[in-house]
Amino acid sequence: MNTPIATAIILAGGSGKRFKSRIPKVIHSILGQPMVGWVAQAAHSAGASQVIVVGSPETHELISAHLPDSIVTVQPNPRGTGDAADVGLAAMPDGTGPVLILAGDTPCLTSATLRRLLQVHAEHRGIALLTADIAEPGGYGRVVRADNGEITQIVEHVDATAAQRRITEINAGVYVADAELLRQLLPSIGSDNQQGEKYLVDIVDRAVADGTAVNTVTLTDAAEIQGVNDRAQLATAQAVLQARVVRELQLAGATIMSPGSVVIEPTVSIGRDVLVGPSVSLTGDTHIADDVIIGQGCVLADTRVAAGVQLLPYSVASNAVIGEDATVGPHTHLRPGSVLGPGSKVGNFVELKNTTLGAGSKANHLAYVGDATVGRGVNIGAGTITCNYDGVNKHRTILEDGVFIGSDTQLVAPVTVGRDAVVGAGTTVTRDVKAESLAVSRSEQKEIPGYAARVRARKKARDENKS
Ligand code: UD1
Ligand code: CA
Repeated sequence: MNTPIATAIILAGGSGKRFKSRIPKVIHSILGQPMVGWVAQAAHSAGASQVIVVGSPETHELISAHLPDSIVTVQPNPRGTGDAADVGLAAMPDGTGPVLILAGDTPCLTSATLRRLLQVHAEHRGIALLTADIAEPGGYGRVVRADNGEITQIVEHVDATAAQRRITEINAGVYVADAELLRQLLPSIGSDNQQGEKYLVDIVDRAVADGTAVNTVTLTDAAEIQGVNDRAQLATAQAVLQARVVRELQLAGATIMSPGSVVIEPTVSIGRDVLVGPSVSLTGDTHIADDVIIGQGCVLADTRVAAGVQLLPYSVASNAVIGEDATVGPHTHLRPGSVLGPGSKVGNFVELKNTTLGAGSKANHLAYVGDATVGRGVNIGAGTITCNYDGVNKHRTILEDGVFIGSDTQLVAPVTVGRDAVVGAGTTVTRDVKAESLAVSRSEQKEIPGYAARVRARKKARDENKS
């Protein structure tokens, strides 16, 4: 069956007091996407043709910035979810047909569930309501049913009697109804309740009184309807969404060694036979090809990793490209613009920035290589530093194919070391080095024979004087 076309209205005009934040609650990010973005995405993939977000005077600009494809409207005062729904309806361009109403703070809803709810509405019209049967219903609105099982009303936790609080079926805060019906029901809702707010949930008993159909889709998986009112619930929602992303990657052929410890955003792709170690973080536009090993504690943002690469533990990369079969780490730092050629090797305590390393080149230990173009088969010794910044401008270092840079070399840029040239250990390179040459700058070594014996004799004499 085709999913009916609907307009989605996302309520996000509340003050989010329980969040204790300067930043609007629905803008808080979960795995790289604002909370309200997850909701909008679920609505879009459930077939919503347009998404209207009801923001507050303080939040609407931020929401627009994060959701450029949505219509963002403003609820001047947070007078309750019923009032917010009114504001959303008024922003509907054509004002007719099925409306899917959601809250901006339920990021774990799946499009599959929303589609089911839209189907129920398409079959029965009236109101379709999403509920869940959960063990700890505290805080949520309770679904009150008559003896025959028919729904009679939803009562908010704060307004509920002790007996009603024992009800375990809760309102998930997701509804489908035609715009025409909503416009008919909403004006009759008052605010005679504990919070003095216009409750959207009250459309249910109004509908029942009119003899309008109220049907439910009831979930048994409480994770999906997790509302986020405080930061503890934010962590719970993040865990739910992370588990989903991990599961998809696992089913696509990645081994995630410690699923509870990783952070992997949904934008990331991972090939087959990839091993992801504990406490790894993969974010943004990061793409991992087949047969890659990502060691414990690696942190990759916006980085492309080609097939067969080994990332040893605790390596950090952002905006980098790592070529086939390269080896990185442990403890390597690849800053933006690092491009590693196939089969290259970058080892411990090596930092690269805005640098291209040719095929098979190596910087195995303790080096800073910035703003450099390094050819193929180059060996960069331990302790090599590019002096790329003169306090005002950045300059480039060019190491041509086959160059050998001895340990503890400073390359004062701009400088070029020609093909197959050798730079001796401890050299400060300040001028270009011709191809095939040896460059060394070193003060001459002195030697004083018998020095150690003389020091020993002096020490012995001093100790004898003391006693
Ligand atoms: C709401 C439901 C409750 C349900 C729960 C599910 C009502 C009255 N209660 O309670 O039955 O179990 O969600 O998570 O609807 N908002 C506005 N403008 C307002 C007030 C709220 O846009 O004036 C928005 C909020 O930003 C939020 C959503 O509506 O995104 C829900 O509001 P919230 O205060 O979180 O309602 P709950 O107490 O969670
Ligand atoms: Ca809520």
